[in-house]
Amino acid sequence: MVRLREVGFECVRCGVTFRSTKDLVACKVCGDGLQVTQDLSRMSYDVVKERWRSRPIGVWRYRELLPLNGGGEVSLNEGGTALLSVSVIGGSDPSVQAFVKNEGQNPTGSFKDRGMTVGVTRARSLDRRRVICASTGNTAASLAAYASRAGMECIVLVPSGGIARGKLAQAVFQGARVVGVRGSFDDAMNVVIEAAKRLDAYLLNSINPFRIEGQKTAAFEVFEQLGGRTPEWLVCPVGNGGNLAAYWKGFQELKAIGAIDRLPRLVGVQAEGAAPIADAIQRNLKEIVPVAKPVTVASAIRIGNPANWPKTLRAIRESGGLALKVPDSEILRAQEVLARREGIFVEPASAASVAGAMRLANEGTFDKSDRVVCVCTGHGLKDPESALRSYGESPAVDATVEAVVAAVEAAQ
Ligand code: F0G
Repeated sequence: MVRLREVGFECVRCGVTFRSTKDLVACKVCGDGLQVTQDLSRMSYDVVKERWRSRPIGVWRYRELLPLNGGGEVSLNEGGTALLSVSVIGGSDPSVQAFVKNEGQNPTGSFKDRGMTVGVTRARSLDRRRVICASTGNTAASLAAYASRAGMECIVLVPSGGIARGKLAQAVFQGARVVGVRGSFDDAMNVVIEAAKRLDAYLLNSINPFRIEGQKTAAFEVFEQLGGRTPEWLVCPVGNGGNLAAYWKGFQELKAIGAIDRLPRLVGVQAEGAAPIADAIQRNLKEIVPVAKPVTVASAIRIGNPANWPKTLRAIRESGGLALKVPDSEILRAQEVLARREGIFVEPASAASVAGAMRLANEGTFDKSDRVVCVCTGHGLKDPESALRSYGESPAVDATVEAVVAAVEAAQ
């Protein structure tokens, strides 16, 4: 049966530590988020690397660095996504080596599965029967799948009418009770913590530190897929900020066990109409200023008051990184270029990282031979409507060779 390892839980703001976190998702002292801490002083990469290599690539390959052990995990074989070399990002400098970490290849089509396998396994180890989250769609789809796998009841709160159809279909079909909340994701997030208590449900938003533990494994994979190297730049779309913070934790742990001696610079990319973190970085603010009515075509990151902002601001600053905001037009253009020139179909939020990297490449930010990894967080099929909105449906023709040839020739 799964057991909690010797780990602690530390507040990301005030540093207070707790031994256990049954239901705890926030610091009892200051109310901020918690993160898992593990004593890595006796762990060495030379020892764990042999064990890692004996297991298939994926989240549980890295179990020495996960807070749970003992087997019995709730898994759909998540992680192990491709790191693809791409040529569309280099701008005027072809010596930049750019890659896409294609997280749409996860079981439910987004990176959320990395966190959910660990989070739902934790819920099972606590004998919880019910799980809950607020979501812009992918978290809901992922939680619904893992809850089904574990035989748990799942409740998801989503902004009513504000999530992509593919994600809604996944959540509903996988048996979640979907509650549409009038308002934005932020409004749903505002009620979910209290609703979890009232409904006796285990909360699995990314403020739950077990989620971040699963997500950090993407950093371990990038390191291994680059042949045991750190990328100079790691570019990631930012909504609540959990994922960027997870990558940072992953790379820091690799450094702590002696696998690498250098950390990447992190680039957080937000959509222009929902960019409180990019604003805070660019204006050098201590705290974010929430955006009351976030707007962007990238519904996954349509978030005005990101829950993980302290962790995210700190990670970007510590890494010597930066944050940018890109308009929807650049996001859609990057989504199209990635699909047409590389055959990689991602959802709009995912394309934000590529749009950001393209902009930095054009501005000459990257040095010669820098390795730039863009995290593409979710599959394009999640949101077919936004893709078809740009192109419309193809008109039908008669089922004759002449009509087909004429239609193709007319389109050229
Ligand atoms: N990309 C995609 C496709 C997402 O679904 C999300 C977040 C992000 C990026 C941003 O990640 O929040 O860790 O900074 N989606 C959440 C959800 C909010 O409910 O599915 P983050």
